[in-house]
Amino acid sequence: MILTPFGERPDTRDARAGKAHVAGLFWAFGASLLALPFARQQDAPDWGATDHTRKLAYTDDEDESPLDKPFAMDVREFDEAVAEDPDWEVAGSLAELVERESAARYGRESERLASSGLVDLTRLAAGERVFLLECAGCHGSEGDGGGPAATHLVPRPRNLRRGLFKFASTPVGSRPLREDLFDTLTRGLVGSAMPSFRLLPEEKRWDVVEYVRWVAIRGEFEQVMLDIAWDDGELPDPDEVAEIVEHRWRRENQKVSYPSVAEPPFDEESVARGRELFRGSAGCSACHGDTGRGDGPSADEFRDGWGYRIYPRNLAGASFRVGDEPERLWSVIANGIGGTPMFGQAGAASPEGIWDLAHFVQHVAAGGEEAGR
Ligand code: HEC
Ligand code: HEC
Repeated sequence: MILTPFGERPDTRDARAGKAHVAGLFWAFGASLLALPFARQQDAPDWGATDHTRKLAYTDDEDESPLDKPFAMDVREFDEAVAEDPDWEVAGSLAELVERESAARYGRESERLASSGLVDLTRLAAGERVFLLECAGCHGSEGDGGGPAATHLVPRPRNLRRGLFKFASTPVGSRPLREDLFDTLTRGLVGSAMPSFRLLPEEKRWDVVEYVRWVAIRGEFEQVMLDIAWDDGELPDPDEVAEIVEHRWRRENQKVSYPSVAEPPFDEESVARGRELFRGSAGCSACHGDTGRGDGPSADEFRDGWGYRIYPRNLAGASFRVGDEPERLWSVIANGIGGTPMFGQAGAASPEGIWDLAHFVQHVAAGGEEAGR
């Protein structure tokens, strides 16, 4: 069975019986800081042979994310919590309310989606075909990151339905550009399972970029509806929420930072300046450790925006997700990594300083920095 995104939900989702309890989790994410994961304990339901993706939603493993499950499941958790809390003003099923609002605004045929101009609707059907063929095995047919391969992969395939991405030419908290998503697809994410789709015809890559945008924008709308509903005890005005989300995705609000000065020579002086910044004002050592081994004092403290444990990279011998080109290292250091604790330096260090940092990182990656110094 192929599940179309946002379409009919399998019955197995209703079959669960379990208690939700709320666990607070905050992660730094630009101005929008709040996520509400739900930890749960319950018996695993009886799984149909075809429904691998759903299995992920029923786990007690600490390192399995409670967030990483389809939207409708989140909402049913909310419904359970709402039912137990007399202060809530929402009567009935929050799940149904939010799904209805989401379908009305971001269903394929919706006027709002068409007039927003945020998704090129002429590419959507083709994009969906590419997605189901090429991406669903990892990212799940609903884009929730729960494809059949997902449990075997570290890092896990992205849940694309949170509007949250790691790698972009825009700072953490801002949304990626179309070009960023296209680049990620083309390049792949080195050192993760995310392959390069260089061999996929360019037009198909652009098609699936539109599809990813649609999944992300719609998913983000649903998530923000829930977050606000949770905080306020009532359903927010859906059009206001749609405004908030769409604002984030408009080109004019996606500030790009590219290297604005030419790369200085990669020499000992630059590496030394980079080392000083790394250990000093740029604060990299707190996570990555003085010699970049990923063993700084804060290294064990973090969860990412999807609810998983995340550790600072050991930069020694590392291959970088963004690839080896110096410009890309500049960009990842300047912009930070979305959904992770790694904030960007664009506002803090000078563009030259960021080059020096990139050089120090390359020096560490090439084995030039002894451990424990
Ligand atoms: C073999 C598994 C696999 C396949 C197939 C796959 N991905 Fe991924 N994808 C991943 C993993 C794993 C990550 C997370 C990497 C990380 O967190 O560093 C990811 C991350 C992403 C991201 C997020 C990038 C970011 O900046 O956060 C996007 C977008 C994405 N994939 C799109 C796609 C699309 C579109 C396809 C199909 C054309 C696809 N992926 C196919 C495994 C896969
Ligand atoms: C608050 C903790 C934290 C700080 C501070 C931090 N990082 Fe990171 N960094 C991380 C984490 C976590 C990852 C792994 C992200 C992932 O795997 O998705 C990472 C990954 C990286 C990567 C790999 C990028 C890639 O494309 O694979 C580089 C390079 C890097 N950091 C450099 C730096 C530099 C330089 C600084 C200081 C300017 C810095 N980091 C500060 C937490 C931090």
